[in-house]
Amino acid sequence: MDWSERDKRVLWHPFTQAAEWTAGTPLVIERGEGNYLIDTEGRRYFDGVSSLWVTTHGHGVVAEAIAAQARLLDHSTMLGLTHPRGIELAERLVAIAPPGLTRVFYSDSGSSAVEIALKQAFQYCAQTGQPQRRRFIHLAESYHGDTLGAVGVGGMSLFHRIFGPLIVAGIPVPTPALHPETALRDLDQTLRDHGHEVAAMVIEPLIQGAAGMLVHPRGYLKAAADLCRLHGVLLIVDEVATGFGRTGTMFASEQEGIQPDFMCLAKGLTAGALPLAATLSTERIFQAFVAPRAEQQTFFHGHTFTGNPIACAAALANLDLMAQPGFFEKVNAAAATMAEHLARLRALPVVHHVRQVGMMAGIELRDIEGTPLPADQFFGSLVCERARAHGVILRPLGDVIVWMPPLTSTVDDLALLAHATRAAIEETLP
Ligand SMILES: Cc1ncc(COP(=O)(O)O)c(C=O)c1O
Repeated sequence: MDWSERDKRVLWHPFTQAAEWTAGTPLVIERGEGNYLIDTEGRRYFDGVSSLWVTTHGHGVVAEAIAAQARLLDHSTMLGLTHPRGIELAERLVAIAPPGLTRVFYSDSGSSAVEIALKQAFQYCAQTGQPQRRRFIHLAESYHGDTLGAVGVGGMSLFHRIFGPLIVAGIPVPTPALHPETALRDLDQTLRDHGHEVAAMVIEPLIQGAAGMLVHPRGYLKAAADLCRLHGVLLIVDEVATGFGRTGTMFASEQEGIQPDFMCLAKGLTAGALPLAATLSTERIFQAFVAPRAEQQTFFHGHTFTGNPIACAAALANLDLMAQPGFFEKVNAAAATMAEHLARLRALPVVHHVRQVGMMAGIELRDIEGTPLPADQFFGSLVCERARAHGVILRPLGDVIVWMPPLTSTVDDLALLAHATRAAIEETLP
């Protein structure tokens, strides 16, 4: 029996309708080589979505650091013990993070990083005489992960509706990309109405990835941060997708000079090689948890593999590569090449809109009249499936084709990405 038949017998895939999966022919990826994935038949594909937005320097690039650390110390708990790689990485993250973020709490997924920020913000308020601050503001179309706390501050009804009865719902405010004229005014009003009962606002800075690559008007982030400060509401920036060079700077928050109270990191942290996440917070937050043990102000949260040393070693190797002279210049040159390709794709009659920040982009498909495509036809998925025949792996968000190539994509890689996307769109929506 081949791999795909064996898969269908035992696996349950995330965000995947099993009826379709079992009817199809799953692609079985066996190897990664630089910016390419290679299947069991030896076919090569450019990794157009960085293996779900994680690969920063290509596949296999931090393998040596991982192997060396695995031989030295594979795992040791952060509960009651510590280790050099975890300490070094925390020092490095604090050094590159926006000013004021001085403390690092490790976990192992973006959802957990957000969950931890929410819990820390809530407990901070409870322990600083503000027990009424127990709600969270989020952007209406936001996505912050799949654990229940993160779903509570999410707004993607397709993913989240079913779990409504299980969650503590946040307070949604209009998404600035969709309501550029009024979003700030509405946030201001929400803060006036509810600010006193809100612990924190959580936001993806500059661009909302899973919502369909929705780009905020410049200035929204800074203005939102100022409004939160005015109302004593903490600010959590979710840089799970935007962090580590994706938007052309190390973190998106830098581009508007904000000083958040929390920053959530995952995905690209380990160059995309291993699961590791971090929730950074300020000294003011941290100190509110420092007290005699009997007072029970401890943050009672932690995961078995919190701060795994091999993952920390991969992250350190990732940061070493990003610290090389000219790294961000190359990322921005690649982003400019992407922009040229996107502008040409925009000329296709079914391309309604292209959106981009750095090396994150979305190509929104509609019919030639500009009407959204019928949702039950899954054209976005069909386009991505076709792209495989042209040597590129893509994954859509509805009818938005996502481009999230590795930061090290070459001119040739990006030409292939653009060619495959165009061909797949033309074949699917002639
Ligand atoms: C902005 C953002 N936050 C959180 C998450 C959840 O991360 P994870 O899938 O690692 O739990 C994602 C995942 O796509 C994300 O894009």
